[in-house]
Amino acid sequence: ESIVAVIPAAGQGRRMGSDLNKQYLSLADKPIVAHTIEKFQEFEQIKDIIVIAREDEIAYCQHEVIDKYKFDKVSQVIKGGQTRQESVYNGLQAVDSAEYVLIHDGARPLLTKELLECTIRELKDYGAVGVAVPVKDTIKMIDNEKFVDKTPDRSKLWAIQTPQAFSYNLILEAYEEAKNEGFVGTDSSMLVERLGKKVKLIHGSYENLKVTTPEDLMIAETIIKGRR
Ligand code: CTP
Ligand code: MG
Repeated sequence: ESIVAVIPAAGQGRRMGSDLNKQYLSLADKPIVAHTIEKFQEFEQIKDIIVIAREDEIAYCQHEVIDKYKFDKVSQVIKGGQTRQESVYNGLQAVDSAEYVLIHDGARPLLTKELLECTIRELKDYGAVGVAVPVKDTIKMIDNEKFVDKTPDRSKLWAIQTPQAFSYNLILEAYEEAKNEGFVGTDSSMLVERLGKKVKLIHGSYENLKVTTPEDLMIAETIIKGRR
């Protein structure tokens, strides 16, 4: 069976607050997104990688990442949209043919081979899988004036990460349905959940963080050094 990796890297990186888009900031020895793509390049079962970049950064991404590190599994670098959802949808539409797609944030460079193996194993049983971790903090629901509205039971709260992986037909349908109804979600799983389809979560790792703010980059550096 064929599994295509779709890697959205077309955000603005606003919360990082750096001039260079965060995907291209250096982490240890290479750009963040190069670490991410490398994991898929080196993973046997993935034969095709589609990277989504900002339109004005496609050439930069191609030269400074794809060509420079010889990521020859990357078949296309295509342009993103205003939201992550639009970017991923562009990626899904660019898939030629696939039984499964694995969606992974360009800004999550610390995923491991083991996590990929586990995701793909479960994917074959469930058709819709996401990696998540139990939240460490107690989460509050708030009202408009920042008063506490509710405290959900922490034991039932998990923070979703990527990879998220799906049967190609299912995820395409989920994105098309959301688009038709003007629904915008913050992750891919939400769009599948809306169809009433069950999404299986697997226990990921706290190390698989999304580089969002400057302190995440410092933590990521430390984790990488620890692994070497
Ligand atoms: N992403 C994307 N297209 C968008 C927005 C986000 O491809 N229009 C990607 C980002 O590049 C990132 C992933 O989705 O790899 C997760 O998004 P996030 O961490 O929020 O990144 P940014 O949107 O770039 O950051 P910020 O929200 O701080 O601006
Ligand atoms: Mg964002």
